[in-house]
Amino acid sequence: MITIAGRIPEAFIEEVRQKTNIVDVVSQYVQLKKQGKNLFGLCPFHEEKTPSFSVTENKQIFNCFSCHRGGNVFKFIMEIEDVSFPEAVLKVAKFSDIALPQDLATQEETGEQSQAQQLRQLYQDVQVLYTHILLKTEIGEPALNYLQKRQLDEAAINEFGIGFAPDQNNLLLNFLKTRHVSRELMVRSGLFAQRQDGQLIDRFRNRVMFPIWDQSGRVIAFSGRLLVKSENEPKYLNSPETEIFQKRDVLYHFSQAKRNIHQTKTAYLFEGFMDVISAYRAGITNGIASMGTSLTTDQLYLLSRAAQRLIICYDGDEPGQNAIADALKLVKDRSFEVGVVMLPDGKDPDEYVKAYGAQALQDQLENHVMTPIAFALQRLAHQYNFSVDSERLAYVQNALQTLVTVESTVEQDLYLHQVADQANVDLTALKAEFINANRQYQRKQRAEKRQTRLTTQQTTTAPSPVFNVVLNRTEISERRLLNLAIADETLCQQLLNHDGFAFNNPQIQALFESWQEFLQTDSQHDVAGFADFLTPEQQPLLMEIEMLTLPDEISDDEVNDYLHNIQTARINQRLQNAQRQVKRATEQGDDAAEMKWLNELLQLKRQLSQ
Ligand code: GTP
Ligand code: MN
Repeated sequence: MITIAGRIPEAFIEEVRQKTNIVDVVSQYVQLKKQGKNLFGLCPFHEEKTPSFSVTENKQIFNCFSCHRGGNVFKFIMEIEDVSFPEAVLKVAKFSDIALPQDLATQEETGEQSQAQQLRQLYQDVQVLYTHILLKTEIGEPALNYLQKRQLDEAAINEFGIGFAPDQNNLLLNFLKTRHVSRELMVRSGLFAQRQDGQLIDRFRNRVMFPIWDQSGRVIAFSGRLLVKSENEPKYLNSPETEIFQKRDVLYHFSQAKRNIHQTKTAYLFEGFMDVISAYRAGITNGIASMGTSLTTDQLYLLSRAAQRLIICYDGDEPGQNAIADALKLVKDRSFEVGVVMLPDGKDPDEYVKAYGAQALQDQLENHVMTPIAFALQRLAHQYNFSVDSERLAYVQNALQTLVTVESTVEQDLYLHQVADQANVDLTALKAEFINANRQYQRKQRAEKRQTRLTTQQTTTAPSPVFNVVLNRTEISERRLLNLAIADETLCQQLLNHDGFAFNNPQIQALFESWQEFLQTDSQHDVAGFADFLTPEQQPLLMEIEMLTLPDEISDDEVNDYLHNIQTARINQRLQNAQRQVKRATEQGDDAAEMKWLNELLQLKRQLSQ
């Protein structure tokens, strides 16, 4: 932890808030689209297919209508980076290039580090060491020669932080010992294997080292490739998983590619690290790879924040094709446009560049993108021997089953031509078959839909979550009125002067009172600043209220309606209480009490009819 909690000067917090646009910060993580006054996007805090996350630029706040997270820019960073408030302030300051006050800057440097930070620092240092060995030492020469043979120049080595772990048991161990790194941290790092006698030895030996980064570009692991082919060792060896490295949510090169993915809305997904690097050298800078495993939903989720289009380019061999099919299944139903590139001759991108040059790879990646359906048809075609009639017909039947799932008729027509050509069958006959198959498919779809409707009707008797409770008129009025009062000082004053005015909802009343207190402080009196003034528990309600879309001009009539609704609700409450009391007094034969409550009852009724 950075040991600065509570010690960042208010003025600095305010400066950071004022000089930062929340839209710029959020855009680093979420793709936002303008819609009316707000910007909308897919909420980064939970998985969803339709956007319920919004940012209001003029108020400098965000809110998710479905998971109810909300707040100002600091809250956003706290949530998404999982850091404390002071850490969030420092991060945002860094983002906005705002210099830290002197004493804060030094505190940050000397501050005690969290366990995760210690690990990250260690990995960072080790990466620098391995690159140094590769580029600047004699023991690094064989590895450097190897990389040069693979056409990796120094620029690429630096860009990808590549290094070399020599064939020695204790190189890293001794290096870290001289730096007084604790044994405990060394064990935790996974950079060492433990021998029977407890001795630590370097885990990575005689391997070309590829650092793996997290979303923020910090080194969190390595993948080491054997320099010399070996039968009994894996070609690539990854760091074991640690608290900072979980394979399933890491995408190789994502932090560096993010900017370009945002700009082009497109990401290229490759199978291996070397493919990402080769593509990069061929000018494709928005390439990423999963960690040698099949694609996970966590990785897709990460991607969906930045990309609209995902182009999969795996190895052209059989396992590669199967992996593409798996990935396509996973991506289906997500808000991605997907494409597939199959490089000729079963080559991987790295081999392809080597054989035909960078320009050729670029051409393939940009101009030879297949739709998932085209890919499926092609893959299907490979399974049949077209010189045998029965196989040709089996292919056609299978192809038709794929084509019925295509929604656009133009596309259907296009593929029908393709299938007719490929299987050498009559187009008119094929179309007739298609119409049949399509009719059957639609019928089946309708039956399935009916079935799910029935089953969901049976299962949706569970109580709806608290947040989705429909608000009644009073509650809506209170929310709107507080929204207006915060925006309009005169109205706020009017409410204060209004005899006996109070919100019925105690939480809204508390927000209203806090706002008065906040107005007494020196900070700029805006909503984003107010959020920091509140307790974390109070913030979601404020955000919900601030996210209401109200017209710019509100008439006095409307305000009076809200006031009227609120006061009526209050009177009704008191009325109900009075009725209860009258009943009780009558039962107990307490005449004095009965008179008193009857009086109250009458007065309240009079007020209501006014
Ligand atoms: P080069 O042989 O250096 O060109 O690498 P490549 O990218 O062609 O590797 P390959 O196609 O064999 O594998 C693709 C990816 O799978 C690699 O980048 C690794 O992430 C992963 N991988 C390959 N072999 C192994 C292995 O033995 N162990 C592990 N854990 N991962 C591997
Ligand atoms: Mn390769």
